[in-house]
Amino acid sequence: MNALKSISNRILPFVLVSLPLLPAWADDAAPRERLLLDFGWKFHLGDNWGLSERLDKAGVNPGPAGRAFGDAHWRTVNLPHDWVPELPFDSTADDSHGFKPVGPGFHSNSVAWYRRTFTLPEADRGRRLSLEFDGVYRDCRVFFNGYLVGHHESGYSGFRYDITDLANCGGQNTVAVRVDTSQFEGWFYEGAGIYRHVWLVKTGPLHVAPDGTFVYSQFANNVPEGAATIHVQTLVQNDENSPATATVACEIFDPQGKSVAHFEQGDVPMPEWTAKEVSQEGVVSNPALWSPETPNLYKLVTTIRVKNAVADRTETEFGIRTVAFDANEGFVLNGKHYEVKGTCNHQDHAGVGAALPDRLQYFRVSRLKEMGDNGIRTSHNAPTPELLEACDRLGMLVMDENRLLGSDPQTLDYLGGLIRRDRNHPSVFVWSLFNEEAQQTTPAARRVTATMQRLAHQLDPTRLCTAAGNVGNVYQGVNSVLDVRGWNYYPDAVDAYRKAHPTQPEIGTEQGSTVSTRGIYANDRARGYVSAYDLNAPPWATTAEKWWKVYAARPWLSGGFVWTGFDYRGEPTPYSWPCINSHFGILDTCGFAKDNFYYYQAWWTDRTVLHVLPHWNWPDRQGQDIPVWAYSNCEEVELFLNGQSLGRKPMPRNSHLEWTVKYTPGVLLAKGYNAGQVVAEHKVETTGAAAALKLTPDRASINADGEDISIVTVAVTDAEGRVVPVADNHVEFDLDGPGKIIGVGNGDASCHKPDVFVGPQAGRMVALRDWRIKRGASYPSPAETVEKVDISPWDKADVDSSYGPLIPEESALFRTEFQATPDMLAADSVSINFGMIDDEGWVYVNGHKVGESHDWSDQPAFPIQKFLHEGANSIAVSVQNHEASGGVNKGVNLEIHDKAAALQWQRSVFNGLAQIIIQADRQPGTLALKARAPGLEPATLNIIAGAAAARPALP
Ligand code: GAL
Repeated sequence: MNALKSISNRILPFVLVSLPLLPAWADDAAPRERLLLDFGWKFHLGDNWGLSERLDKAGVNPGPAGRAFGDAHWRTVNLPHDWVPELPFDSTADDSHGFKPVGPGFHSNSVAWYRRTFTLPEADRGRRLSLEFDGVYRDCRVFFNGYLVGHHESGYSGFRYDITDLANCGGQNTVAVRVDTSQFEGWFYEGAGIYRHVWLVKTGPLHVAPDGTFVYSQFANNVPEGAATIHVQTLVQNDENSPATATVACEIFDPQGKSVAHFEQGDVPMPEWTAKEVSQEGVVSNPALWSPETPNLYKLVTTIRVKNAVADRTETEFGIRTVAFDANEGFVLNGKHYEVKGTCNHQDHAGVGAALPDRLQYFRVSRLKEMGDNGIRTSHNAPTPELLEACDRLGMLVMDENRLLGSDPQTLDYLGGLIRRDRNHPSVFVWSLFNEEAQQTTPAARRVTATMQRLAHQLDPTRLCTAAGNVGNVYQGVNSVLDVRGWNYYPDAVDAYRKAHPTQPEIGTEQGSTVSTRGIYANDRARGYVSAYDLNAPPWATTAEKWWKVYAARPWLSGGFVWTGFDYRGEPTPYSWPCINSHFGILDTCGFAKDNFYYYQAWWTDRTVLHVLPHWNWPDRQGQDIPVWAYSNCEEVELFLNGQSLGRKPMPRNSHLEWTVKYTPGVLLAKGYNAGQVVAEHKVETTGAAAALKLTPDRASINADGEDISIVTVAVTDAEGRVVPVADNHVEFDLDGPGKIIGVGNGDASCHKPDVFVGPQAGRMVALRDWRIKRGASYPSPAETVEKVDISPWDKADVDSSYGPLIPEESALFRTEFQATPDMLAADSVSINFGMIDDEGWVYVNGHKVGESHDWSDQPAFPIQKFLHEGANSIAVSVQNHEASGGVNKGVNLEIHDKAAALQWQRSVFNGLAQIIIQADRQPGTLALKARAPGLEPATLNIIAGAAAARPALP
C-alpha cells in the first residue's frame, strides 16, 4: 500500500473537574470548575430595544443590556433553546428554511434577548472567569454587567469571553445576549437562539488555555502495532502579575480506567502574562485501538503544578488509531482499507428544532449505526461538541465541516477554532473545508483553499482535508489543491476523473439521494408526499441503489455519505408548500425508518436483513397489481401471499427484488435463504381498524438531572396490537410528575401542527407601535384619556428609545391604538408591559384607568384584557417627568398568555406513528405520560426519573 499522508488520532477536552480518575499523587483539588449555565434564562422575542449599545461610554449600555433592567415578566427558558419551532408556519416564508416566519422579511421574529442573573461567590476573586458559548444562531452581542464583552456573528462556531475584570464576586452578575437572525447563513433550517450549551468556566490564574490540549498518537512506520507514542501539546497560560515555574504532568488511563502512562515536564518558566506551549511524549504499549466497531477511549489527565500545589487539571478523552488516505486503497483506518458508509446530516430533530438535548445526539447516532452507517458528515457547519462526543463513544466516523470558503481573518478564525476544538476527537477523520462553493472552479478559490488547507495542516498534522464539490470531472480550481477530492453526486464521472488524476485520493462527500416519505407508496404532489420505493431522486442526484453500486465496486473512492441520514426542516424538494421539510432522509425527522433504511442495512451490515414493502392495507385496490419489493442480504428470497408462494429469486448484490402481486388482504410473508436454509422471515399483514394507542419509550428509566430525556414512540394499533400503517389519529398528551414534554413530531413533511406548546407561563409578546404625544397635557387624567380621540395631528413619539423626550417637570399624554384579535380576547390574560415610565405615569385603556407607576426604574405591567374589545382599542399614558429627561421609554408590549386548553400537548400520528420527547427535572420521581384520542383505547406510560448526579450547574 502506498500510504500518502497519514495520521494518528486524537480527541477533545471539554469535560473536566470532578473526575473519578484522579492520579494517586494528586491529593489537592484543582481550582477549575466548569458550570453549566443552561437553566433559568429570561427570554424576550422582538426587537424592542435595538442594539442597546452605547458607543460613547463603556459599561452603561441601556435597556436589557444593562444591569438594572427588569426582566421579571419575560418568559423563563432553559437552554438549549431554539425559538423557531414556536413560530407558526407561513407560506410566504423561505422554503429552504422550512416556511417559518424568521430571517429576511420577518424582523420582529428574528431578534430576541436572553438574560440571566447569577451570584458569584466571594471566593471567585482571583480566579479567571469566562463564559463559553457552544453556539448561538446568530449574530449575537453578549453583555456582562452592562459591558459589551463580544459580538459573534457565526451561528455555528463556539466562542468564549473572559469576564474576570467585570465580575462582581460576592454579588450579582448579569449576562444579556441579543441574538439577531435577520440574515441566514445557510439554505436549510438553522433555528434561532442560544441553541447549544453555555458554560461558566473558572480556573486559577495559571491554567491550561482554552482548547489548549492537543493529544495524538503515532506508531513506528505508521503501522498500528506494538507501542504508540502519545504526543501531548499543552498551552499553559499565566494570567498573573508574577512569574511562576510550572510542572506539566500527564497521566493516561486506558479504557478500563487503569493508569498506563505517566510523564511530566518540570521547571517550565512562566513569566507573568504569557502563554507557552509544552510538548511532551509518552508511550502506551499494545493500545486498544479506536474504530467505529471498537470505540476504545483513553483519557489524558493533565495536571499543572506550581510548587507542589495543583494549579489546574483537565481531562481529555482521546482514541488511539491511525487514519490515512491512499489513491488506491481509499480511506485507511488502522492500516486497512475502510469503506465509509456514511450519511450527511443537518442538526435539527422533530420537536426541538436545532436545540437538541445531549441525549438526542446519542439517539440519532445509534439509529444511524443500526442501519450500518459508520460515518457522519456535519453538513454544512461546525457541529455541537456533544455530537462528536457521541460519535467518539458510540463509534462513528466524522467528516467535520467548516461553513464557508474564505481566507479572510474571520473565516480562518472560524476554521482554526473548529480544528483546535475538535482535533482530539478520534471520530474526526478528515476536515471538510466547505460545501459546493459557487466559485469552486476559479483560480481565486483554488488559492483560498490552499490557504485554508495550510492552516488546517499547521494546527493538525494528523488529518487531511477535503471539500464537497459538485462539479463532476473537473480538476481546475479547488480540486487541484485539495488533499482528498470530495464528490457531491456525479457517480458516472468518477472513472474519467480517476484516469486523469490517478494519484489523488477521493471520497464521496454527498451521494444518493432518494426522496421519499415514510409509509407512502405513490407520489402525491397535492399533499406533498413522495413514494417510499427507491425510485425518485432530483435531477442532480441518484437513487440509493445507483450510487452505492458505483461506490461499492470502487474501494479507491473511500465510500461516501448519503444525502441525508435524517430528514430535516426546509428544502422540501421535489415540492414546495405545503411541504415544510425535506424528503431526503433515510429516516424521517423523528428517526422512524423509511424503507430505504433496510436497503442500506442489508448492504452495510453483517446482520441478516430481510424487509418487505409496501404495507398491506389497500382496501381500495382489491385485485390490483401492487409492486412488492424485498431488501435483503440473503442469497435468495421467496415471497408468499396468504401461504401461497409467489416465487423464490436469487438476490442480486447491492440491489433488491421485486414481485408484482394482485392485492388481496392477508399476510405477505418473505423468507430469506442462505445455502438453501431459511435464515430470516419478515411479514406484512393487513391490519384491523385503529383501536388503541401504544406508548413505547426508548428508555423507561432516565436520570433526574434536568437534562436527560426519554424519546417515546406513539403508535396507533389495531385490536391485535399491530401498528396501523395508514392511521392519522389526533392524539392529546398529559404528563404528570417531575418533568416536562419538550417537543412532539410525526415525520410528516406536510404537517403544520406545532412541535412545541410553550406552556402557560410563556407569553406571546406584541410590540405596541405608532405612538403620538401631546406635550403640556395636565396629569394624571387629562381629558384626552377617554376612549376615542383623533390623535393624527399630534407629534409622533418614539417609545423605544432609552430616554427623553420630556424636560424636567414637563408633563405629556402619550397615546396609541392597536387592533385586538379574537384570540387576544379568548386568551387567559393580556397585560401591557412598559420598559420604563419616567418619572410617573397613569395608564388608560379605552378610557379606563388600568394602573399607575411612580418609579422610573420599574418595568410596570398591568392586566388589561377585561377592558378590550375586538377591533381598535386605545391606550393613553399620562406622564409627569420630574428630573432630567423623561417619558414612555424602552418599549411597550402586550403580553398574551393563551388558555391552558390551547396549550394541550397534541399531535396527529402520521402513518401510524408519532414521537414525544420527555425531559426529566432535577428531582427524582415517576413521569406518567397519558395519551388519548377519540375512539381509541388510551395509553399510559410510566418513566422513572431516578436520582442521578447532575452536571455541575449554576444555581
Ligand atoms: C446539495 C447541497 C445540500 C442540499 C442538497 C439537496 O447540492 O450540498 O446542502 O441542498 O443539495 O439535494
